[in-house]
Amino acid sequence: MDIRRLEARDIPLIQHANLENLPENYFMKYYLYHALSWPQLSYVAVDVSRPKKTPYDYPKIVGYVLAKMEEEPADGVQHGHITSLSVMRTHRRLGIAEKLMRQAQLAMVETFGAQYVSLHVRVSNKAAIHLYTKTLGFDNEKSEAKYYADGEDAYCMRLELSAIRNQIQEAAEAEEEEGNVNDGDADEGEPVGDVGKAGEDGGDNKKTLAVRGGKDGGKEVKRKVKVGRSLGVQALVEKDESKHS
Ligand SMILES: CC(C)(COP(=O)(O)OP(=O)(O)OC[C@H]1O[C@@H](n2cnc3c(N)ncnc32)[C@H](O)[C@@H]1OP(=O)(O)O)[C@@H](O)C(=O)NCCC(=O)NCCS
Repeated sequence: MDIRRLEARDIPLIQHANLENLPENYFMKYYLYHALSWPQLSYVAVDVSRPKKTPYDYPKIVGYVLAKMEEEPADGVQHGHITSLSVMRTHRRLGIAEKLMRQAQLAMVETFGAQYVSLHVRVSNKAAIHLYTKTLGFDNEKSEAKYYADGEDAYCMRLELSAIRNQIQEAAEAEEEEGNVNDGDADEGEPVGDVGKAGEDGGDNKKTLAVRGGKDGGKEVKRKVKVGRSLGVQALVEKDESKHS
């Protein structure tokens, strides 16, 4: 199963899933509006294991979350909103909806600095209410009478995204710290042989891999060697070696 960002070409399959799973349906252009306005926020679950009949078969989309940023928030606070979420019956209770929701929430914070995320859910929708309140930690803020076209009430739910913000900040700090530690290692040891002389072949690959370079007065010395495609295009051209032998 792949969870990846929604692409415009997924829209017909998402619309299909929405029609199968929910009574709240939308015009194609509404999906497109989400995909074009907030391309970072909507995700699909793709069943890549499905056997293809031809190499051109598109993998089946078994779930989606359609999300957006509130364009004119009444409270003036930057926040996201879940427009629609569903998983095909065949793939329910596998944790797909939870993963889709978590991805959308993370992207709301990372990309748009969202403070919280809101949504509406039918008061009779036990499965979704469990997912939102028990699994994801949403709070039920209030009910909205006759919110849905058939007259059913909705719960308006909201989840503060401060925990995700803190996680992102902690990860950034840890990365910075790691960077500082690695910088301290940068000049350790002398280059050994040709391999150690970075940049002499004109290659632009700056990636290096620290390897153990034997003992130096009892101290283990690390040296850096280049890895990856460091030789440039010339090295990939087949040469006539027979002339040199
Ligand atoms: C609601 C829905 C999206 C859940 O999708 P899912 O992929 O099956 O959910 P997950 O597997 O991620 O389950 C998340 C949690 O919800 C619980 N859950 C899922 N279906 C449930 C059900 N029918 N009854 C009770 N709990 C249920 C799971 O047990 C899990 O709880 P846990 O974290 O305590 O173990 C899916 O049932 C669906 O598409 N329903 C129709 C469309 C819909 O109602 N969308 C929501 C509109 S607001």
